[in-house]
Amino acid sequence: MSRRRYALVGAGHRAQMYVEAITGRYSDEAELVAVCEPNPVRARYHVDRVVASGHAAPTVYGPDDLETMIRDERVDRVVICARDDLHAPLIVRSLDAGADVVVEKPLTIDGPSAAAIEDAIDRTGREVVITFNYRYSPRNSALRQVIQDGTIGEVTSVDFSWVLDTKHGADYFRRWHREKEHSGGLLVHKASHHFDLVNWWIRSAPRRVFASGGLRFYGAANAAARGIHDRPARGTHDGGDAFELDLRDDARLKALYLDAEQHDGYLRDRDVFGDGITIEDNLALVVDYASGATLSYSLNAHSPWEGYRVAVNGTHGRAELEVVERGAVLADEGLHPVIDPSAVDAGPSGSLRPEGERLLVQRHWEAAYEVPITSTGDGHGGGDALLLADVFEGPGEDPLSRPADWRDGVRSIAVGIAGNRSLETGLPVQVADLGIRFLAADGAAAPRIGS
Ligand SMILES: NC(=O)c1ccc[n+]([C@@H]2O[C@H](COP(=O)([O-])OP(=O)(O)OC[C@H]3O[C@@H](n4cnc5c(N)ncnc54)[C@H](O)[C@@H]3O)[C@@H](O)[C@H]2O)c1
Repeated sequence: MSRRRYALVGAGHRAQMYVEAITGRYSDEAELVAVCEPNPVRARYHVDRVVASGHAAPTVYGPDDLETMIRDERVDRVVICARDDLHAPLIVRSLDAGADVVVEKPLTIDGPSAAAIEDAIDRTGREVVITFNYRYSPRNSALRQVIQDGTIGEVTSVDFSWVLDTKHGADYFRRWHREKEHSGGLLVHKASHHFDLVNWWIRSAPRRVFASGGLRFYGAANAAARGIHDRPARGTHDGGDAFELDLRDDARLKALYLDAEQHDGYLRDRDVFGDGITIEDNLALVVDYASGATLSYSLNAHSPWEGYRVAVNGTHGRAELEVVERGAVLADEGLHPVIDPSAVDAGPSGSLRPEGERLLVQRHWEAAYEVPITSTGDGHGGGDALLLADVFEGPGEDPLSRPADWRDGVRSIAVGIAGNRSLETGLPVQVADLGIRFLAADGAAAPRIGS
């Protein structure tokens, strides 16, 4: 089989996983012939890694030359790893120029651009693959298996809460993610992973969304209300507290962002308590599904620990998945807390929350039992490797239906987009009203369970 010719579109942080896959494990199936990236330092960073792995240097193009690149380099497939709001125009242009597309989540950030992708796919008949790595995490696959096997019967409701800690969660408030026009906010940028999981776990489509939430912790106004003032605009200065990111401490971040900012002014380390944040950090949703099931979902982005809890109620019992990805963010030596701890009543000292995962199933009239989860130590419990195999070798037959197509991408963002509209209006929003044709048919499917 001849190798497929790939081009990377957007060569920042996420691009590395694909560059390593194409130049490493999948070099018999794929070759990286071009990189489309406006920032010359970031483009060079990735080109150098391709060359260091023993492959020919891909040619670098700017975004205006995307079509030229696809034509001149005879690109079969582009891998889009640009900022979320840029996905849709890059997808549409790539399809029209004759390439298939692999795109990072989220597919896009609003209804009109999702409709434009739908039109371009209809027009060109080309393929768009969206990479939902969370499906491949063994623990998430295990929950799907339990539900798919009918162990808990028909799903009647899901209770799902996800907490991002003050290390990972804070990072969404430093760069483009903090602006809704660029990321769709956490409901689209982050929670699309979670909504995809629910859609896939319960094999149904969202129909109606009601959301509530706001920015209550990060941002200048919240900080000022808590007595936090006069903060430096960015983390790269000599000082440092637990919320600052000093790019000089990490060679990769320095090379990708600090050394590159002279070309485009892209600041990676803005203060999480600064001005200009337009996304929420606390969110709650109620989602009705076409099957008749209900989802209650919450997201918090300033938790002291990170992980998630999901409980799935069914007509025969209940499954509960609990995951602690990081038990605590402890203040490093040399970093001082933002608020003087002596000003806060000391609580009892505790022990560290153990990290790990547990899937419990309990059927009516029976004792609970734990379902074993087979995990490797690699990225996302081995999920990233499984995902890359599906992307580069082809999905094959998967009894758990993990490979996702663009429709799954749309269904996942539909919840977040409808949620954003609900936040604006204070009203529930019908997914069928987002202007995306196939969603109207999805939502019209007859409920499988009562009411
Ligand atoms: N699945 C996951 O777990 C996961 C994890 C991280 C990021 N992501 C996704 O990957 C994507 C990239 O995230 P990132 O953290 O690498 O962002 P990034 O900002 O580090 O990289 C984006 C790159 O796109 C470039 N760019 C800007 N305008 C462009 C244009 N018009 N055409 C092409 N490139 C352009 C930027 O210069 C930058 O190098 C996002 O959509 C993000 O949601 C997914």
